[in-house]
Amino acid sequence: MEKIRQFDFRKMSFYQIWVRSFRDGNGDGIGDLYGVYERLEYIRDLGVDGIWFSPIFPSPNADYGYDISDYRNIHPDYGTLEQFRKVLDRAHALGLKVLLDLVINHTSDEHPWFIESCKGKDNPYSDYYIWRDPRFDGEDRLPPNNWYSQFEGLAWEYCETRKQYYLHVFARKQPDLNMDNPKVREEVKSIMRFWLDMGVDGFREDVITYISKDMRLPDGIPFLPAINGLPFYNEGPNLHRYLREFRETALSYGAVQIGEAPFTGIKGARRLITGRDRVLDLVIQFETMTADCFFTEYVHHPFSLRKLKRAFSRWQYGMKKGGWNALYLENHDHPRVIDRYGSRKYWRESGTMLAACFILQRGTPFIYQGQELGMTNIRLHSIGQYLDVASVNAYHRFHLKEPVRRRMRRIHLSSRDSARTPVQWSPARYAGFSVHKPWFYVNPNYKTVNAADEEADPGSILHFYRKCLKLRKSCKTLLWGSYREYARSSRRVYVYEREYEKERILVICSFSRHRISYRLPKIYRNSNNKLLLDNYPAEERLPDGKRELRLQPYEVKVLKAGCL
Ligand code: GLC
Repeated sequence: MEKIRQFDFRKMSFYQIWVRSFRDGNGDGIGDLYGVYERLEYIRDLGVDGIWFSPIFPSPNADYGYDISDYRNIHPDYGTLEQFRKVLDRAHALGLKVLLDLVINHTSDEHPWFIESCKGKDNPYSDYYIWRDPRFDGEDRLPPNNWYSQFEGLAWEYCETRKQYYLHVFARKQPDLNMDNPKVREEVKSIMRFWLDMGVDGFREDVITYISKDMRLPDGIPFLPAINGLPFYNEGPNLHRYLREFRETALSYGAVQIGEAPFTGIKGARRLITGRDRVLDLVIQFETMTADCFFTEYVHHPFSLRKLKRAFSRWQYGMKKGGWNALYLENHDHPRVIDRYGSRKYWRESGTMLAACFILQRGTPFIYQGQELGMTNIRLHSIGQYLDVASVNAYHRFHLKEPVRRRMRRIHLSSRDSARTPVQWSPARYAGFSVHKPWFYVNPNYKTVNAADEEADPGSILHFYRKCLKLRKSCKTLLWGSYREYARSSRRVYVYEREYEKERILVICSFSRHRISYRLPKIYRNSNNKLLLDNYPAEERLPDGKRELRLQPYEVKVLKAGCL
């Protein structure tokens, strides 16, 4: 088939919309595509080049859209196919690309395929999912192996009608598809074509590294809760083969593919996105989201700048040859970053510093809705107020002997719900998100943290995001330059240099709550340096040719080396 040239996603940056909380346009308290339509100019003005929509398809919302019951329609809460087309056309007219979320590791248990599949072993959909007979210990019926799901207890659920278990790596209502079945892969391609024919520009592909299982389904490592089966479904035996098939479909439209790869390291990522027969364009890694936790936010430890820097640099150096990074610090799966890697006390300062810290690295930045406003986490009083299936399950399953207060602290530190509160558009009622009581709690700080007020304040986090994105885009060194880390062992600053055709730019990020000084590399110690960006009033702080650069709490400075 003739291939259409792919657009250059490397030059671009993207804005992620989790539509339920983005903006309510029809007054029912739920964010929707009408709200998105009204805010497309806002997104364009931020300076991004595209949008990634988290799932907008019909879904019972057991996992807020990541459990799809119809791949070819729009969730009635969010609008209609016609409204989606309007959004798509308008986005294109504004020069924005549009990526959809392709969730094909699993469907909803309310998807017609699964409903059919459950009915017995001899219908056209019987082999669409991963079914196994029970094991028996005497009279006791046991699941086929000891795997745990990542979200909800055992990874197997028994179906009475079929007298078999089905596999679900996530929640019970998210049965895993059997990708070894060629018919399932044909379905995937046909879903891709459906949206690509409509004009969509590509996909973010959900937990794509899990789609091929080791079908012997051996018992997993007993002591790893929630991910004991991971070695047998992460980067499984046929992953590349299946992705190659999907790649062909995508490339015949020039579409871009961004794969979520939760437990994939550099080597695995390089295999996916480099070389002539690469099967994806970008990988969303999780390592930079674990500077304050082990594997997942639920197992928290105090923030370690050195751990964050190691992760940043590992990926930057790791992708040096022929690779490219997806850069992000927030999405719908992680609590807000100011509360994790920054500081509430230095909210504006740390929010702006964190922006420059990741946007100016080598790669394609992704900004999550509300991140550009410095939105922070919520603290709800009881677990009953939380909706995220992963949080609710963790609360009821782990650390049961601890007092409620401590268990709730774990939820406050980890819940994905913190990233899912309505976007704060103004200091008006319901944060200007809706005229109706919103479907979920609004963060009470909306009177001070909101788009309208930040629009009016040139020193705001919002304006700083715009500046950063503009600077990145207008500067070849920041787009294409190499990456080199300085001050590696420092526990207070993260410093990196970008270099391209003899131009050198240094990004100095303070993670300290105190005034500190940083000894500049030689080449930056002269007064011809140009200060490209600063999150403090710049005039007073221009570098003066001295060796020591003074930094305010959470200050970021971006310096271009002048000629000596
Ligand atoms: C991905 C999604 C997450 C979802 C999970 C299961 O990690 O980003 O939101 O819960 O996959 O689909």
